[in-house]
This record gives sequence, structure tokens and C-alpha cells, in this order.
Amino acid sequence: MPVSAKLQLSQFALDVAEGLSASPKKLSPRYFYDDLGAALFEAITLLPEYGLTRADERLISSRASQIGREVGAVDSVLELGSGSGKKTKRILEVLAQRYSPIVYRPIDVSSAALAACEQSMSGIAEVKPVCGDWIEGLASAVRFRRGDLPFLVLFLGSSIGNLDREAITGFLRQLRSSLHAGDLFLLGADLVKDVETMLAAYDDPTGVTAAFNLNILGRMNRELGANFDLSSFAHEARWNSNERRVEMHLRSGRDQSVSIGAIEATFLFRAGETIWTESSHKFSEPELNSFAWSGGFLPVHTWVDPQWPFAEALWRAA
Ligand code: AVJ
Repeated sequence: MPVSAKLQLSQFALDVAEGLSASPKKLSPRYFYDDLGAALFEAITLLPEYGLTRADERLISSRASQIGREVGAVDSVLELGSGSGKKTKRILEVLAQRYSPIVYRPIDVSSAALAACEQSMSGIAEVKPVCGDWIEGLASAVRFRRGDLPFLVLFLGSSIGNLDREAITGFLRQLRSSLHAGDLFLLGADLVKDVETMLAAYDDPTGVTAAFNLNILGRMNRELGANFDLSSFAHEARWNSNERRVEMHLRSGRDQSVSIGAIEATFLFRAGETIWTESSHKFSEPELNSFAWSGGFLPVHTWVDPQWPFAEALWRAA
């Protein structure tokens, strides 16, 4: 087993031990994405109820040339979490018309995602993958500045929504500290919409999101020697109006105990008790602007999809 996978395993084990000892019990959404989880997420993006990814793609493809005009010539494009690459391709194409060759540095923890990304972008840009987490990867990617042209950093798909609001400002300040004044940041963020629509996006009748949520229990069984009975937990999506976020939970249907081999521990679940697995925060346009200022950026332009309220916000490092 490669060293990095071993480290990842023990970090997973430690985080599970900590999260399941907490009250309420919780797990980090980063652990959704093993190979099965990543495939289930891809399926989620195809669900009619989950308009988020399509809105992000629609906005970027319809506004690509406008985004290109606002951004101008750039030295490199850095992307936090490389994803499927479909959206990024459009952006790289328009930017390459202004300055070429463009260097594209996708930053991702998954080497499989990076390899796929390199494959699909190599015709448009010089691809230099960076394997690591967002802030660390960015810090290493920015060392390769070639000249005076700015960097463009992409953070698409409303991944920022997994962070609590207090954590967002800290994250943005860290991001800003790796950049120079004049560098650009394009942020995709899902907006608050009617509650029914938001809940359906996280509780589809096909059960794909339920499978995605339950897979985190399956992953603990597979990787940590746990004995979760997946059929005794139920997927639940809730709108938290105070925090303006959709939360996903897994509710235990009965009193039960689960043991986890890797950490030699047993956890008790009461009937009705839940494990909180994810928060997906939803934003407003004015709120995104205030995040820009609090992180040390100036808002340049925000594009909003009319069909599914979702924003693409372009900021410049102040
Ligand atoms: C990839 C974090 C943006 O929060 O909407 C989809 C993940 N969770 N359905 C989101 C997710 C449940 C997604 N993000």
C-alpha cells in the first residue's frame, strides 16, 4: 500500500473516532468520495432534482466569453478540486484565445481525478497537476509564477458550501495570502431558493442521494473493519433556516451498537439518533460580496443562472 493511502486511512480512522464520539455524532463530507462515492456523486449531478451542477455548467458555457473578457490575459489557471473538467474546458478555451500557452494547474487529493483531468485538458493548456489538499496545493502551485500576468483561481460547483460560514472567511484569507494583488478568483456558489426545491435536490425519489449518504457507512465497513448494518439507517435531508443550509443526516432506526475494528472501539446508537454527515450552505449575492471584502478581494462581476439560482462570482485580489 502506498504511504499516502496508509496516511489517508489513519486520518480517516482518527476522524471517524472523533466524530462518532462527539455529540451529536458527525462525519466529514470529505469521506463520501471513495470510488463508489465519487460515482454516486456523478449520478447525483444527472438527477432532475439536483439542478446545481447543470446551472454551474450552463452559466459557464453561456458566459464564457464574457468571463474571458473580464479576466483578460492570465499566466496560469489554478483549480481547487478538478472535478470532471467539463466547465473548466470552456474557460480554458476562451482564455487561450488571449494568451497562449496557458498553464493549467488542477489541485486535487485524488490522483485518479488528476489523471483524467490531464487527459481531457492536454489539448488546450499545459497541464501541471498538483496532488494535495486545496490550501497546501495552492501554496505550492503559486510558486511557479512566470511573469507579471495574473493567476486565475477556480473554485466551482459550490464546494465552498461544505464550509461553515465562520470557516469561509478564514479559508478566503488563506487563499488571498497565497495570491498577488490583481489575481482573479472565480467562485461558483449555490443560492438560497424555495425550501421544497432545495430539499428535493438532497432527497431525490430515486434514492441516489440516500445511497451517496449511506455509502459513508459502507466505506467504514470496507476500510475500517466496521460492522454497520446499512439497512438500519435512514437518509434524511433538513433545511436549517437559521444557518441557511441543507443538512444531511443518517438516522438509526433502532438501538444498536457498531464496532470499528481499525480503532478497536464500539459506538452506541439510540433509536432515532442521527449522524450528521454534511452541510451544504446556500448563499445570497450580497453575502458573496461581503465574503469577497472580508477575504481581501474586490467583487468584479456576478453572473446568476435564471433557471436555478446559482452564482458565478468573479473577484480580484485587492
Ligand atoms: C459537491 C459539496 C457541492 O453540497 O451539493 C450533493 C455534494 N451532497 N448531494 C453539495 C452533495 C449531496 C455537493 N457538493
